[in-house]
Amino acid sequence: MKSNTSTIKIEKAQGSKLENTNFNKLAFGEVFSDHMLECDFVDGQWQAPKIKPYGPIELLPSAKVFHYGQAVFEGMKAFKDEDGRIWLFRPEENFKRINKSNERMAMPAISEEAFFTGMEELLKLDRDWIQKGFGNSLYIRPFIIATEECVSASPSKKYKFMIICSPAQAYYSGEVRVQFSEKYSRAADGGVGFAKAAGNYAAQFYPTKLAKDTGFEQIIWTDAKSHEYLEEAGTMNVFFRLGDKLITAPTNDRILDGVTRKSVISLAEEFNIDVEIRRVSVKEIVEAAINGELKEIFGSGTATVVTPILGFGYKNEKYELPKIEDSYAKFFKDKLMKIQYNQAEDKFGWRHEVK
Ligand code: COI
Repeated sequence: MKSNTSTIKIEKAQGSKLENTNFNKLAFGEVFSDHMLECDFVDGQWQAPKIKPYGPIELLPSAKVFHYGQAVFEGMKAFKDEDGRIWLFRPEENFKRINKSNERMAMPAISEEAFFTGMEELLKLDRDWIQKGFGNSLYIRPFIIATEECVSASPSKKYKFMIICSPAQAYYSGEVRVQFSEKYSRAADGGVGFAKAAGNYAAQFYPTKLAKDTGFEQIIWTDAKSHEYLEEAGTMNVFFRLGDKLITAPTNDRILDGVTRKSVISLAEEFNIDVEIRRVSVKEIVEAAINGELKEIFGSGTATVVTPILGFGYKNEKYELPKIEDSYAKFFKDKLMKIQYNQAEDKFGWRHEVK
């Protein structure tokens, strides 16, 4: 994809919202840093990205994103170590994935330069928004929306790529219990489940609301055909521990190829934890919960890192998981975070410094 991004124009914010931000009390995704990146695609090419104060953007009501949801996004995090150095975690995976999502949604690929140079300039400008301390990060949300002013149902000719940043702590504030989906589906074969397409998430809101009404935080999506196999947990990939064995579903065109998921798999292999990537049936997990073989379920994702799931519901029955000392969820979360915060050796070359 041709691009014209060699210079990034920077317009600095007049003041900063930093002083008015309580970093000890952050709900996920509600506060945004002082600046944002904006880059338009017109006449068949990406224009030079601009960094400007975080604020409203102007779109006409006919912009295609409002009508057809032609939009993709990514989720990433920046971490600050004790020396004040800034790190990203496997950012090239997000770059590859946003372009996979773009392709599936008939959107133009974003150039490496706009994605990386733009993001790094933005992070350098807003570096004070990245707080030190284990658990603090700056959540980075790159996204692309269709901006052509036209309601014909065809791919847009104009797009806007943006990056906004939000200081973050934990994604889930309370305990997480999930409901196994018996009726609703997140994705189907041949669909867009593997893409980080905005509509994938909107489609989850209603079934998740129903699950919340009955006391569950999230849904574990089952395959659309039979609802017999467990695939993804809400906005996370999902792992099951049977005895000492870890099991997760293989990625396919229904399941997001999560960066944290593949990092957990690599760590499991490094630490000789038996990990099986195969279909996991509802029947197998319900039976294992009853006979005591099921030790843990946990979700993985950028926003949440690793979240233990304390119990699940299926066909009006509720199952609680045992409280265990040697939790894999805790082990992987700690290993991952120590790499992310530059507190452990980075054997896999996952850290990327923003200089
Ligand atoms: C992420 O983990 O970055 C996600 O995509 C979850 C998001 C929908 C909050």
